[in-house]
Amino acid sequence: MGLIIQIIIFLFTVFSLLALYFVYKFYIKPKVLMGFYEKQGVKNLCFSPFIGKYSFVSRDIASKSDGFYSIKDFLAQNPDCKYSMTNLADFVCVQLYDPDLIKDFYNCKHVVKHKFGVEIFQEFMNGIVFAEGEEHSRKRKIISQAFHYQLLQSMIPPLSEIYDEFIDKIKDKKVDDCISMFQEISAESVLRLFFSKSFKDYKYKNKTITDNLIDLINIAGQLAKSAEYAFLGKTFLRFGKLSALKKTSRDLKKIFKEVITNRINSTNLQDLKHKQRKDMIDYLIENQGIDKIESENKITIDTIIEEFITFYAAGLDTTGHTLGMAIYYLSAYPECTKLLSEEIKATIKSQADLSSDNIKNMKYLQAFVNEVLRHYTIADQLFMRIATQDIKLGNLNVKKGTILNVGILENHFNPKYFKNPYQFNPQRWLDGSLDKLPSYIFNPFSAGKNNCIGQHFAQINIKIGLIKFIQSFDFEIDPNYKLILTFQFLIEPLQPIAIKFNSKKL
Ligand code: HEM
Repeated sequence: MGLIIQIIIFLFTVFSLLALYFVYKFYIKPKVLMGFYEKQGVKNLCFSPFIGKYSFVSRDIASKSDGFYSIKDFLAQNPDCKYSMTNLADFVCVQLYDPDLIKDFYNCKHVVKHKFGVEIFQEFMNGIVFAEGEEHSRKRKIISQAFHYQLLQSMIPPLSEIYDEFIDKIKDKKVDDCISMFQEISAESVLRLFFSKSFKDYKYKNKTITDNLIDLINIAGQLAKSAEYAFLGKTFLRFGKLSALKKTSRDLKKIFKEVITNRINSTNLQDLKHKQRKDMIDYLIENQGIDKIESENKITIDTIIEEFITFYAAGLDTTGHTLGMAIYYLSAYPECTKLLSEEIKATIKSQADLSSDNIKNMKYLQAFVNEVLRHYTIADQLFMRIATQDIKLGNLNVKKGTILNVGILENHFNPKYFKNPYQFNPQRWLDGSLDKLPSYIFNPFSAGKNNCIGQHFAQINIKIGLIKFIQSFDFEIDPNYKLILTFQFLIEPLQPIAIKFNSKKL
């Protein structure tokens, strides 16, 4: 009996200590730090144990059909607010809105990407997204030298071909999930950016390479936001899904390694100079940027594969969601479709007119894409950054260990800059009202040394997609469809967007 009581007391003590530890870690510690920021005038966006601002999502879906409504509306209530704070797990997260502070943030070398979530992806891709400091600048320089304007121009015909292939497949059919279809298209476009060719004939575990890579990215996304990861960390996942993920990625990388090695071995530098359509691998070979050993100007085949998978992951969801949502906006706002159709008819009379100069001159198309990037904002904020030491941003003292981020979404809805921000209105980009927009307020691709390296590729891809789809189809959305935005790994519609693509009547 005495022993049982002793065990009960022991267990009670252990549980009480654990409970105290959790209360301290997830409640008292962040609250104390938030007090430090409150004294400096940082507004409290929300404190909710563990999940911080994400606690708004289900409430806002129920009341506003938009899980991000409170976050978007924050600056409507406080248009001059420079920064706000919330908590996440045991961290305090400070979001920056003021352009000068955002500039300081981008330039501060004591702010680096935080590993939370990101480390799951790092298990199978280790490209520039995750590199810091010297390593990041070195890799970014080599990739930028290959990923230049000529490459973008030479991507117009292959991108156009990809769209033609999909357009053929979906003619007069209903696509149940428009975003998934555009994810597939975006995935294919990154494959062709690097390798020119499609990998349709390469199979792994009875699936195409594209499908395998998409699965890898989706599984990693699910693991990164899973409760087991949040509470027990990466080590716990090592023995289950994570090791399967690593095995698949190792096997896929072998396939790509063989393809690149064969390309290098069979390429003649003289012939390459005259090649018409060059891809990323061609430019890396031509710039002599590939070697067996990494150095200042060279990367290895293994590094290229890491970069390819990184580009694939970075391009897939962002471009796919943006294009899917663009089609939603076209279905919901027929007057936009009409204006776009007119511009397309006036500019692109034949396939030969689909040039980067013509696309650049299409003002309404640019305004429409800008408005989709603003009103939808696929990247509501950056990957979490952490202050590695005490720093100062403007007048704000930031404690080591604070999570910092840029409030991209909040700034996109600040009525001080964007009148009637909830209104989807491409015209605002043409009527002069945004001519004096300060830097970093419209910031869908971020800025600074980690800005989106794929932004020009993404824009040209989105624009070609819109031109091709508008030329080919009238879009029919279920009149009862109601767009409700929620949070998965990114902001996305709660219900898939189903569209019937009716062939255009000539
Ligand atoms: C609508 C489409 C896109 C949007 C809105 C977007 C947005 C962003 C944002 C906000 C960042 C900064 C992330 C951070 O620093 O935490 C970023 C980085 C990046 N993006 Fe994109 N992106 C898009 C498409 C693409 C595409 C198509 C590619 C590749 C083909 C790409 C490749 C990258 C890479 C490699 C980085 C990391 C750059 C670095 O750290 O140096 N993105 N993107």
